[in-house]
Amino acid sequence: MNNKFIAMQRLAMMGDWLKLNSFDNKTMIKEISRYKSEWKRYNPRKPNNRFGLSITSLDGDLSGKPDLDSLYEFNRENGTNYDNQSFKKTTIVYQNSLSLRSAIKPYMPWLGRSHFIKLNAGGYFPEHYDIHKTKFDKDEIRLIGFVNNTSSNHFKFCYEDKLITNYSDGDLFYFNANKRHSVFATDNEVILLVVTLKFDENLFETIINNYDCK
Ligand SMILES: [Fe+2]
Repeated sequence: MNNKFIAMQRLAMMGDWLKLNSFDNKTMIKEISRYKSEWKRYNPRKPNNRFGLSITSLDGDLSGKPDLDSLYEFNRENGTNYDNQSFKKTTIVYQNSLSLRSAIKPYMPWLGRSHFIKLNAGGYFPEHYDIHKTKFDKDEIRLIGFVNNTSSNHFKFCYEDKLITNYSDGDLFYFNANKRHSVFATDNEVILLVVTLKFDENLFETIINNYDCK
């Protein structure tokens, strides 16, 4: 087995949720409020009160096409073969938000498709595993940042059959997205930071160095 998969196994053994470096969510909210008009419907084929703001995209623009669409559907319709690593070019949202840059700085060498997700009341992601339907992204991991209105009176994060509650706005986690999860907003302006990273043993070391182990 190569070092990458030994490191992935070690990461999996450590746990499903690892708290990483915290970030300044208040400044982040202020900084991204400049792009209020740039939020796009997330997966517009299934509109349900959820929006995306691109941190990376195909060519650095904020069109959301196709980085905020369903890649499975988009590829099928257009004969393309995009995956989460096709979206590596940072947008002005990234470039002009110092708090975002500082939050994800340690992980930049591995950065793929990344965006903010905004849910308004009633917005949800149904139960799913973060595994592509046609391609098993075996060397990819996810980070999630809780940015705005994510406490349990505004928002529910259901992981397998449990509610995740031990987080606050301003927390960044690695989480094992291979397990079944769903989210649901009971209030407006729930904002999450979603980061996709291409995994290797050096990323494992970076995670260990940023792991907030009390
Ligand atoms: Fe997910």
